[in-house]
Amino acid sequence: MTELTVLVVGSGGREHALASALTRDPAVARVHVAPGNPGSWALSRRQGLAPDDPLFAQLTGLDPLDGTAVVALAERLGAGLVVIGPEAPLVAGVADQVRQAGLACFGPSAAAAQLEGSKQFAKQIMAAAGVPTARSHYCADPDQAARALDQFGPPYVVKADGLASGKGVVVTDDRAQALAHAAACGQVVIEEFLDGPEVSLFAISDGCRALPLLPAQDFKRVGADDTGPNTGGMGAYTPLPWAPADLTAVTMARVIEPTIAEMARRGTPFVGLLYAGLALTSRGLRVVEFNARFGDPETQAILPLLRTGLGQLLLAAAQGRLDQVGPLSWQEGSCLTVVLAAQGYPGRPQAGSPVGGSALEQPPAGVEVIQAGTAWDAAGRLVAAGGRVLDVVARGADLAQARAAAYAAIDQLDVPGLFCRPDIALRAAQGSIDPPADL
Ligand code: AMP
Ligand code: GLY
Repeated sequence: MTELTVLVVGSGGREHALASALTRDPAVARVHVAPGNPGSWALSRRQGLAPDDPLFAQLTGLDPLDGTAVVALAERLGAGLVVIGPEAPLVAGVADQVRQAGLACFGPSAAAAQLEGSKQFAKQIMAAAGVPTARSHYCADPDQAARALDQFGPPYVVKADGLASGKGVVVTDDRAQALAHAAACGQVVIEEFLDGPEVSLFAISDGCRALPLLPAQDFKRVGADDTGPNTGGMGAYTPLPWAPADLTAVTMARVIEPTIAEMARRGTPFVGLLYAGLALTSRGLRVVEFNARFGDPETQAILPLLRTGLGQLLLAAAQGRLDQVGPLSWQEGSCLTVVLAAQGYPGRPQAGSPVGGSALEQPPAGVEVIQAGTAWDAAGRLVAAGGRVLDVVARGADLAQARAAAYAAIDQLDVPGLFCRPDIALRAAQGSIDPPADL
């Protein structure tokens, strides 16, 4: 195999976790993240990109939504693969532009990314493909919304139709609050409440075949014991010691494969990562949502356990030849990630607090500290610049050991303006999650 250069588009924890896993693949020679952050700029410099090279400015200044600029940067870097991290450029058609330029791209077309871009579209695909999900109504005005709320009863679930960075969903017992969210959003999907534990299952698809990654669980609420508002995700772990043994096989058969087949049948094949957010309800497995890209922060927990080379895997998917990649190979043990977020997140996060400490410079064995929302201030110091600032990723023989390693490393960070949840994977480590008897 020729030496592969990979361009990862994005700048968050997920993109930096992808870059970290890509650098572990012997088939990958170079990895650049654009626009990236101080963490990946250091990586680009180690790979020979001088700070005064105009290409460096092109990389750090990239607008991920500008497909022409993404193509130009990929060509200048000699990238053999472009991986698009976030949903917004996918929905905007940046992957289409990269493919039109003749470059291999991991990430769905604008048409296929509608699985994430429109809740209503996702529901239509699930109905056509026979995929189990919550019953729902699409409502275009407050009268329709009121009728739908009364049909399902509390707890009420109201979802904005478009992209909302994980913040468009309100789940509440308060009918007035549900109605107010519907009125504020305009077009909404209102659906029945799904009980039971939630699981994220990711599958790599080449448009007609798919390979599952390990199932993970994400912590969406900002506060301990799942209190407070929804966030993009405050932590994650994998694998799930409590999950039914057939969870992945059943999800592939009932959810992932029918969805990939329906997208292909419509002439809009899904090439990229299909993220199924699932609820294991008392009435069986249901899809809560689809995303069209790697989840953040689940990716940070999953990829350290992947033994198969990530670059070869994503390139095979991009080129429609996943059949040439065997079943994926995984390391033993558990992995978890704890997010350190800036005070104020998920509302208005405070920028500019210092980010440092020995675990950042020299993480203990089995631990990685990923920069997500960081920047350099005018004096060249590393500071917080975003909601989710760092991801502490730790491996262990089991979840208890991985948790202990992650929280010990957090104690070795000097991050006065950041906070984390103390209970990531705690209930799973204690064995106190009860899945339903049947999927
Ligand atoms: P979504 O953007 O669709 O992933 O929703 C964000 C979060 O809201 C999910 O992870 C769930 O925790 C919650 N949620 C969404 N839909 C439902 C539902 N039908 N029943 C219960 N909780 C839900
Ligand atoms: N972890 C939730 C998301 O990526 O949307």
